[in-house]
Amino acid sequence: MTPTVQSFFDLATWTVSYVVYEKEGSACAIIDSVLDYDPKSGRTRTTSADKLIAFVQEKNLRVDWIVETHAHADHLSAAHYLRGKLGGKIAIGAAITDVQDVFKRIFHLEAEFQPDGHQFDHLLQDGETFAIGALTAEALSVPGHTPACMAYRIGDAVFVGDTLFMPDVGTARCDFPGGDAHSLYRSMRKLLSLPINTRLFMCHDYPPEGRPAVWETTVAEQRAKNIHVHDGVSEDDFVKMRSARDATLEMPVLILPSVQVNIRAGEMPPKEDNGVSYLKIPLNAL
Ligand SMILES: [Fe+2]
Repeated sequence: MTPTVQSFFDLATWTVSYVVYEKEGSACAIIDSVLDYDPKSGRTRTTSADKLIAFVQEKNLRVDWIVETHAHADHLSAAHYLRGKLGGKIAIGAAITDVQDVFKRIFHLEAEFQPDGHQFDHLLQDGETFAIGALTAEALSVPGHTPACMAYRIGDAVFVGDTLFMPDVGTARCDFPGGDAHSLYRSMRKLLSLPINTRLFMCHDYPPEGRPAVWETTVAEQRAKNIHVHDGVSEDDFVKMRSARDATLEMPVLILPSVQVNIRAGEMPPKEDNGVSYLKIPLNAL
């Protein structure tokens, strides 16, 4: 089964969103959408999400699912906005409740915010399958970058989230709350044990100088060339490298706004009594 994959690259956050479908007029899933956010003004825009909507409408697709590979720390999710415009069910890995729990405390969120995942329409378990029309998708638990990371296998395509980056970029950081380099190594080996011609779709690309952004590769290519986890790299070597590297990284520019919104499935915090929704900045907490 070879699904059709349409990608959308957001230059502002280096994020790739996907619409996955069988054919024109069929059902589709939207993976890792972006709500544009300007941290200087606190203004959100739907330019990126509206491109997804235009595509879905042009191809006459029915949105069955709006899925997230994880609670992103570098962009806001447009899931809530898209569901309002297109319908569909918002899904994420069931361990999102752990992420909600940690960040509810860090942000000291309102008492009504329950870290039980109900903000999403469906919480996916490892190995659970769900239908996208005639296509079958399987959720693969791939913790490490965050404890709730899921990859989605749809036919010969796997959407890996932040488990892997392109071979010349390597892997994602593991130093966010709940992250763990040992787990990430095992999650990556799980994906790299899939058939070697499996198409792998990244959630980001941070191209080195001189190469255009790309986001599709294969298991074979990752096993041969990934600078962090090609075949032969041991778990210990990977963890040593990852931990040393993570210690040098600054927090992503949008981590504070992103996480607050993304643990709510892309919905803004409740409006205060002046009708305005606010994001918080916890001082000296991260
Ligand atoms: Fe991420």
